[in-house]
Amino acid sequence: MHVVLVEPEIPWNTGNIGRTCVATGTTLHLVGKLGFSLDSKYIRRSGLDYWPKLKYKQYPDFESFLKSIPKSASLLLFSTKAKRNFWDAPYHKSSYLIFGKETAGLSEKIRGQFPDRLYRIPMLRGTRSLNLSTSAAVVLYEALRQTPSWQGR
Ligand SMILES: C[S@@+](CC[C@H](N)C(=O)[O-])C[C@H]1O[C@@H](n2cnc3c(N)ncnc32)[C@H](O)[C@@H]1O
Repeated sequence: MHVVLVEPEIPWNTGNIGRTCVATGTTLHLVGKLGFSLDSKYIRRSGLDYWPKLKYKQYPDFESFLKSIPKSASLLLFSTKAKRNFWDAPYHKSSYLIFGKETAGLSEKIRGQFPDRLYRIPMLRGTRSLNLSTSAAVVLYEALRQTPSWQGR
């Protein structure tokens, strides 16, 4: 499984997500300009001693990320603006679960490229959004739950 963060801004969110990725054998993909340095003490503190064990890749922009993955890759994007529920997404064992940045989410341009692959985590009316690392954990574990070959225990 793969988690993709597009332009993440807050180091402890990425640190938390990195830790969840280590715990689940997931590769983390960091796309575009980051709002922090990967050497930041915050990211290491959030990821604790897990950070060196993390499999991660970095790309200058979303186009470079798209070029680096197989054409047939299963891409699933998560946005508060989507209509379909994340429980109903077609997860595969090597899906790329794509999340937007903390302040603005996924850009209109990226959402427009994949209108049929956008999913939403339900929230009560009046709630703006969930925290990025909470969203990634919720979606990743649902994706793993629906992927019978996963060996977590
Ligand atoms: C803090 S949110 C961004 C908030 C932004 N104002 C928006 O509405 O997209 C950061 C990222 O977490 C994910 N996220 C947060 N809440 C979500 C939800 N209810 N459904 C799907 N994704 C969500 C999305 O990937 C989003 O781009």
